[in-house]
Amino acid sequence: MSSISFSEPEESKACQGVDAVSGASALRRDGQVKGSNQYVAELPARDAGADLFRLETVEQYPREHEALTKFAKGEAERNARPELKALPDLPAYDTVFIGYPVWWYGMPMALHAMFDKLDFSGKRIAPFTVHGGSHLGGTDDEIRRLEPSAKVLKGLAISRSDVADEDIPQ
Ligand SMILES: Cc1cc2nc3c(=O)[nH]c(=O)nc-3n(C[C@H](O)[C@H](O)[C@H](O)COP(=O)(O)O)c2cc1C
Repeated sequence: MSSISFSEPEESKACQGVDAVSGASALRRDGQVKGSNQYVAELPARDAGADLFRLETVEQYPREHEALTKFAKGEAERNARPELKALPDLPAYDTVFIGYPVWWYGMPMALHAMFDKLDFSGKRIAPFTVHGGSHLGGTDDEIRRLEPSAKVLKGLAISRSDVADEDIPQ
């Protein structure tokens, strides 16, 4: 079992009463700053022994909210495939959790870059997202379209407001 996440913790704190694409996502967990999807991806690792893999791009994303939203919008509009630092070793796994934020109502382009390069045929994919209001936003169906030979399970959508910014007792 593997738990892959793409997660970009933003440096400013979430603001309230703003639209779905506003607000920041950094959490303090285990004495470290983590993205919310990064944190949730660690749960199957901690509780079921899944191996963790963090998907990262060669070019670092801006940490500041406005700059990040602008950058991500440009990537989506160009249908970009950002270069990835590394790819997970898929053959070793039957079941793969894949977690990502919803960005501009869809999957971040880094996920598209990964799905372009890897073949998930025969794998079970368990998609999840910590989102700001869009739930899965159809991203699980998008994964089904990109990986028709995989078994894509029902996606799990977790609201950002349900992932509290505090350490919990183990
Ligand atoms: C560039 C950008 C675009 C976003 N677009 C959406 C969106 O369309 N719908 C939504 O619900 N949340 C949106 N959000 C909020 C993120 O999905 C949310 O903050 C998420 O929990 C961030 O996860 P992370 O900390 O793992 O990176 C957006 C955030 C950013 C930075």
